[in-house]
Amino acid sequence: CGIVGYVGAQSALDVVIAGLKRLEYRGYDSAGVAVLADGGLASAKKAGKLVNLEKELVAQPLPPGSTGLGHTRWATHGGPTDVNAHPHLDNSGRVAVVHNGIIENFAALRAELAERGHRLESETDTEVVAHLLAEHFGAGAGLAEAMRQVCRRLEGAFTLVAVHADEPGVVVGARRNSPLVVGVGEGENFLASDVAAFIAHTRSAIELGQDQVVELRRDGVSVTGFDGSPATVRAYHVDWDASAAEKGGYDYFMLKEIAEQPKAVADTLLGRIDASGLLTLDEVRIPASVLREVDKVVIVACGTAYHAGMIAKLAIEHWTRIPCETELASEFRYRDPILDQRTLVIAISQSGETMDTLMALRHAREQGARVLAVCNTNGSTIPRESDAVLYTHAGPEVAVASTKAFLTQLVACYLVALYLGQVRGTKWGDEIETVIRELSDIAAAVDRVLETMEPVRALARSLADKDTVLFLGRHVGYPVALEGALKLKELAYMHAEGFAAGELKHGPIALIEEDLPVVVVVPSPRGRSVLHDKIVSNIQEIRARGARTIVIAEEGDDAVVPYADHLIRIPATPTLLQPLVATVPLQVFACELATARGNEVDQPRNLAKSVTVE
Ligand code: G6P
Repeated sequence: CGIVGYVGAQSALDVVIAGLKRLEYRGYDSAGVAVLADGGLASAKKAGKLVNLEKELVAQPLPPGSTGLGHTRWATHGGPTDVNAHPHLDNSGRVAVVHNGIIENFAALRAELAERGHRLESETDTEVVAHLLAEHFGAGAGLAEAMRQVCRRLEGAFTLVAVHADEPGVVVGARRNSPLVVGVGEGENFLASDVAAFIAHTRSAIELGQDQVVELRRDGVSVTGFDGSPATVRAYHVDWDASAAEKGGYDYFMLKEIAEQPKAVADTLLGRIDASGLLTLDEVRIPASVLREVDKVVIVACGTAYHAGMIAKLAIEHWTRIPCETELASEFRYRDPILDQRTLVIAISQSGETMDTLMALRHAREQGARVLAVCNTNGSTIPRESDAVLYTHAGPEVAVASTKAFLTQLVACYLVALYLGQVRGTKWGDEIETVIRELSDIAAAVDRVLETMEPVRALARSLADKDTVLFLGRHVGYPVALEGALKLKELAYMHAEGFAAGELKHGPIALIEEDLPVVVVVPSPRGRSVLHDKIVSNIQEIRARGARTIVIAEEGDDAVVPYADHLIRIPATPTLLQPLVATVPLQVFACELATARGNEVDQPRNLAKSVTVE
């Protein structure tokens, strides 16, 4: 979600709306604003893009005021409706709050508030904050102190910004885990999710730290910890131009989205594991009794999501022993697939709008199968038409070539596989807990990969004039190879193909010629060491025929060193989780090659982010 707060001499509404426009990439399910005017608080909010709100404000203008806030939403709790849009007010209508993130203990707080006579109107976790703030303010705390008291009670990740009609000229913000930046102006100050929102007014910024509360007035900014202790903050000068700022300082959305992957992975796990280490996928509203009866899983998806599905198949079969097949959604219904009430169909889609996937799931439901969507876009068609949905929390993905959505699709599918195993009592003892622990470590491993990408970029630049790149992998490495090749086609417009390494000798090896770049994804030498040894032989075979080998192998795997012309190291992970780290260098590789070839990275030719035709 995108958040803006303002206090100064200008029209708060104008500043806030202009700021929200620059944050719309963060979500556009709904938008809302509130201003303090004439001793009161006026607000407006509307489902859909910001333009809907703007029309509403023309039809029903708000009184002018110079203190205000606004929000553009990417829905998580509660569908994208007018009522669920931010800001949220308390029952007196004198407090307004906007929020980004998830308040995990909101159900308990909500019940407590209801007991004390509060009427809550939306399904959001945010509304509880408005009510709690009103209570603490009513008990004599100023708005900033009320915010500190409330934050100490909240669990989860959140950015909050609030105003109170009884404290005109004050905007208060709080931050834990999600971003919030202060813009420092002359006689005016700003708060926003990112500097893009205020860069037209000031380039002087302060980054808030974890668990800090900021109080903004026209002539000053004060920051404390949640406990009230004075905080040290980092002031900095913003030197991006406005269009780069929208991309968080990155040249392309794709680069920004690649960098956001550790957070996207962590967010997708957040709140889905209880204190005892068990999965709590309450969203999966398919009864356990039905899941226990499932005798076949079919995954349907397109493009990058299909590659996630290929990896999910291996995880599902390994952890549940239920037969699973993954099929291109566009092929699925035309082959008259065998489906019944005991089939679980998983439809994976970032956008939730891909027509091929939608048609496949409709067909599956007509045959009596249950459909679970794995989706990144709240309220989109695919989850709406499915029996249940597990959302990936990648945040808005703007670049057409999918990156962070892919990693979160994998995480979500692993969770589904483990959940099926948990519900069905599959006998693999401690494995759930172990895998969940290993999954929790992945965000840090992805971070480490991202820190070591400079040689990969240099390598990509050196290959800019090549025509063809091949990709090889086995087991989970095979879909990774396909994904690497797809990225290169999409972005660099090069001939790129992925093969199962073992299949090479049955034909594709004829393509190998002097200096042809071949990327090989090597499985861990631990675990399935047979696979590892086989692929090392495959590398030798292609190298003997002149290929230039680009080897992706885990740290400490020395067996590959003699055969690698270029070696890309990734952290050691369990076999099934390796795609979460092995895909990242391939994304960086494709993005850099596209740049080197002068291509448009975020919007490659002929493609669309969401394809709503069959
Ligand atoms: C389009 C996009 C791909 C994406 C595919 C599936 O072709 O260009 O990047 O993987 O659709 O999209 P979905 O939204 O269903 O995941």
